[in-house]
Amino acid sequence: MATATETTSSHSHTTSVTQIVRPARSFRGSLMLPGDKSISHRYAMLAGYAEGTTKLENFSSGQDPHSSLGCMKAMGAKVEFDGKDIHVTGVGGKLQQPAGDLDCGNSGSTMRMLAGLVAGQQGEFRFIGDESLTVRPMERIRKPLELMGAKIDLTEGHAPMTIHGASSYGGLKAIDFESPIASAQVKTAVLFAGLEAAGTTSIAESVRTRDHSEHALRAFGVKLERKDNRLHIEGGQKLKAIHSVTIPGDMSSAAFFLCAALLFEDSNLVLDSLGVNPTRAAMLDVVTAMGGVVKVLDVQEQHGEMVGTIQVNRGHEGLKGVDISGELAAQLIDELPVIAAIAPFSRDGVKIRDARELRVKESDRIALVVKNLRAMGAEVTEHEDGMDIPGGQTLRGGVVDSGLDHRITMAFSIAALRAQGETEIHGAEAASVSFPEFYTWLDELAVR
Ligand code: S3P
Repeated sequence: MATATETTSSHSHTTSVTQIVRPARSFRGSLMLPGDKSISHRYAMLAGYAEGTTKLENFSSGQDPHSSLGCMKAMGAKVEFDGKDIHVTGVGGKLQQPAGDLDCGNSGSTMRMLAGLVAGQQGEFRFIGDESLTVRPMERIRKPLELMGAKIDLTEGHAPMTIHGASSYGGLKAIDFESPIASAQVKTAVLFAGLEAAGTTSIAESVRTRDHSEHALRAFGVKLERKDNRLHIEGGQKLKAIHSVTIPGDMSSAAFFLCAALLFEDSNLVLDSLGVNPTRAAMLDVVTAMGGVVKVLDVQEQHGEMVGTIQVNRGHEGLKGVDISGELAAQLIDELPVIAAIAPFSRDGVKIRDARELRVKESDRIALVVKNLRAMGAEVTEHEDGMDIPGGQTLRGGVVDSGLDHRITMAFSIAALRAQGETEIHGAEAASVSFPEFYTWLDELAVR
C-alpha cells in the first residue's frame, strides 16, 4: 500500500505530502478514468462563452480544469455542481471584466487559451498563476494575438499578464498565421480569438497537434474548415449551448497505468470510456512498440471525439525499448516522463529527442526526470532536447523530488512499482493538478 505523510515548512507555510510507494508483484484491474483534462478545459471555456446551459458529465476532477471553470465564473458564467455533473450557463458571447485577477493556478492551458477568448472582449483581464506558471513562456500567444490587434502586457515574457480587450479600441482583425511551435494551446488561442475577429482567421500547424478545440467548437455550432494543415474560422459566429456532453477518460492519465501494465508479465488492465482521439492515441502505439498487447473495443464517436474501451497486457517478449523523436515527440509530450521513468527496465533502452518543449512545462521535465532516475540509481545521459536511458537496469527505491509537477510525481510512482525497496515521493500532492484519484487507483491496481 502507498502511505502518505504531511510536513509543513515553517518558512513558507506550504504543506508537502510525501508518498511512500512500495514495489508490486503485478498490475491488474479495470477502471473508468476521470474526464480528459484538455477536453474539460475547452468545454469549460466554450460552455461559459456560449449562450444557454451546457451539462458537462465526467468533467476532469483535476485542479487545472477547475481553474478554467473558476475564471469563466469570474467573467460572468454561472457554474453549478449538482454532486455529479457540472452545469455551465454561458454569457452569450459577452464576457464581463472580472472584479479581480484571473487565477490560473498551475494551468498553462487556462492562461494561454483564455487569452485568445478574452482578446476581442471589452475590458481589462489580468491573469496570474502559481510559482511554476509565472515563469512559463507567454510570448508564444502574445505574438499572434498582437498581430490580430490585441494589446497584451507581459512581465518579462511571463505572467502576470494583462489583456486589454480589443472591443474597446476597434476590435480584432483576422490573420493568416503559421505557428512556429507545435502547440495546441497556441492554435486554440488563435482560433478562439478568431471567433471575435473581423474576417476569416487561418492558422497552419507544422505538426498535427491535439484537435479537441476543433471538435469542441463544432459541437457548439461553429463552422470551422481544415484544408491540409490549415484551419479557417470566420469571425462573428455565435456559440449555442449543448444539452449535455460526456467528457471521455483522459489518455494522459491512462498513460501512467499503461506503463505500469508494461512492467509486469501477467498484468491485465481494462480502461472503459477512454478518449482515443487519433491526435492523442500515439501512446497506444508506443505501448505496442514496447511489447504491450493492446485491444481497442467498442469505439464510438461523441461530439467528434473517439471513445473506446481498451485492454492491455504485456506480451511474451517482455518490455522492449523505443526511440521517440520528431512529430511523435510532440504528440507524446505529456507522456514522455512516464515512458522515461520505466525505460531502465526495458531490454534495449529508450532514446528521446526533439522534446525541448519538456523544459518549459510545469517544471523542466528533462532535468527532473534525469535527476530522479539518477536518485533511483539509473544511468542516463541528458541532452538539450531529450535523453538516452540504457535498458537492462535495476532501480533502487530512492527519494524522488516531484518539483511539484503532477506528471513527475506520477511517473516516478510507476517506476517505484519495480524498484528494489520503498520509494519516497516528495511533493506528491501535485498529482491533484490532473488526477487527484491517482494514488487511490494505484493502490487498487497494484498487486502486492
Ligand atoms: C495541451 C497542450 C500541450 C500539453 C498540455 C495540454 C492542450 O501543451 O502539454 O498538457 O490541452 O492543448 P502545448 O500546447 O504547450 O504543447
